[in-house]
Amino acid sequence: MIEVQDLVKKYADCTAVNNVSFSVGKGEFVAVTGRSGSGKSTLLKCVSGLLTPNSGSVLIDGRNIHSLKAAERSVFRNKTAGYVFQSYALEPKYTAFENIEIPMLIGGVSKSARRKRILEVSEFIGISEILKKQAETLSGGEKQRVAIARALVNSPKIIFADEPCGNLDKKTSDAVMNLFLEIKKLGTTIVMVTHQREDALKADKIIEMLDGEIINENI
Ligand SMILES: Nc1ncnc2c1ncn2[C@@H]1O[C@H](COP(=O)(O)OP(=O)(O)OP(=O)(O)O)[C@@H](O)[C@H]1O
Ligand SMILES: [Mg+2]
Repeated sequence: MIEVQDLVKKYADCTAVNNVSFSVGKGEFVAVTGRSGSGKSTLLKCVSGLLTPNSGSVLIDGRNIHSLKAAERSVFRNKTAGYVFQSYALEPKYTAFENIEIPMLIGGVSKSARRKRILEVSEFIGISEILKKQAETLSGGEKQRVAIARALVNSPKIIFADEPCGNLDKKTSDAVMNLFLEIKKLGTTIVMVTHQREDALKADKIIEMLDGEIINENI
């Protein structure tokens, strides 16, 4: 499903991802771990098409996403992948409902279909009661779940999640992890960055990074 080959991403003063290769099978749940600054977020952004690497390739279902034109890549991402950012990246003044709606507005989904789908996903995630609240008034755990709902709303084949439990207490973090295991049961492929060993152990495979390189890959 995802084939990453010889990926390199340099910033002005460092090489954040250095010659990384790995593959992820359809429906597989992969955790990416490693200490702060090891290149996890940069890798996730390159693999999902949010950042352009300096070299290397990312094939998703056989298509090299970095050889697509920018507009084509946006459409491809909107239809294929959902992304949960390290810091939620919600629109603070929008309601939870409006935040979750964004990928469907971009995808040109009709108003009635949008509403139906938002209610369905919100029930699945357990946020039906907070849909009318403004994002900036939500708790960390609620924001995280809204961000996950937004990533799921277009029924993507792949979910990329960057430390989805990073700012959460143990109980909420366990609830979010269980949610990912439920999402996996739907057949969704998941690539998740995490600092928590306990969370990584719930994945099918762990990729450990250090200084931009994979130092360990456990299946
Ligand atoms: N936009 C940027 N410009 C310049 N350097 C960057 C940029 N983003 C990240 N870096 C650098 O690239 C390296 C990898 O950063 P990255 O954010 O990928 O690490 P990370 O493993 O996700 O860390 P954390 O666990 O703290 O989130 C770091 O040295 C960081 O300072
Ligand atoms: Mg990071």
